[in-house]
Amino acid sequence: MLESFSAKGRVALVTGASRGLGLAMAEALAAAGARVLLNAREAATLAAAADGLRAKGLEVEPLPFDVADAAACRDGMAELLRRHGRLDILVNNAGIQHRVPVTEWTDADFERVVAVNLTSCFRLAREAARSMLERRWGRIINTGSVVAILGRPTIHAYVAAKAGLHGLTRSLAAELARDGITVNAIAPGYFATEMNTALLQNAEFTAWVEQRTPAGRWARPAELGGAVVFLASDAAAYVNGHVLAVDGGLSVSL
Ligand SMILES: NC(=O)c1ccc[n+]([C@@H]2O[C@H](COP(=O)([O-])OP(=O)(O)OC[C@H]3O[C@@H](n4cnc5c(N)ncnc54)[C@H](OP(=O)(O)O)[C@@H]3O)[C@@H](O)[C@H]2O)c1
Repeated sequence: MLESFSAKGRVALVTGASRGLGLAMAEALAAAGARVLLNAREAATLAAAADGLRAKGLEVEPLPFDVADAAACRDGMAELLRRHGRLDILVNNAGIQHRVPVTEWTDADFERVVAVNLTSCFRLAREAARSMLERRWGRIINTGSVVAILGRPTIHAYVAAKAGLHGLTRSLAAELARDGITVNAIAPGYFATEMNTALLQNAEFTAWVEQRTPAGRWARPAELGGAVVFLASDAAAYVNGHVLAVDGGLSVSL
């Protein structure tokens, strides 16, 4: 039974994998047997992250590019296929945040957040599907968010993009399943990462997270590992178009 949870022999790409949730999911997939390409923009940080995982005996390699840059995505995917000949697992995880009252939002800020958190996921899923369709096997996993289920003030483009990503998950799932490709999303609750530095340093906000989340605490990035390994595995072959909340019960409680 445990064999069906293995990622042995798979080639995976995780975007936004130099730190936080992406790095944790990359580590989990590599520990499950996949060769994982780590993506982010800053090459030096990415190389250090890859070194750290290799020191643990994991098979990883950096693939730096900006997911918001269409040409860079095309070149990055071409480089991946040149090195490995195929892509089995895509984790669309790179994301950015921007917090201001609605009247202070500029069009440019809105478009920047959507470009990274949504448009890039469509673009990479399309390129990944081209490779996966050849072998009639693939896993596309998008990092959504509980705030796309519930809504939050000030982070308008983020909520809109993540809600769009949950929708994109469903439309791709509906189209690709007959060819052995599943598409799912993970909706994390509040995880202690660099993206949430300001929130983590705010004692009042942290008290609110602890009170509002049934689990009573912030999550650790490694706690996303089991969900991504499951969705990427043969064990999840019939799980398709699902948004899996990993949120300590936040999205099902008031
Ligand atoms: N932390 C949470 O509580 C939480 C909750 C729900 C959802 N999420 C989602 O989970 C994902 C990861 O969040 P996190 O908390 O781990 O954030 P993080 O610590 O800020 O890490 C973000 C990662 O994305 C990369 N990145 C940002 N822009 C990029 C771009 N244009 N191209 C390629 N890589 C890019 C960053 O590296 P570079 O800056 O070097 O590019 C970094 O590796 C995001 O999609 C986020 O929205 C997080």
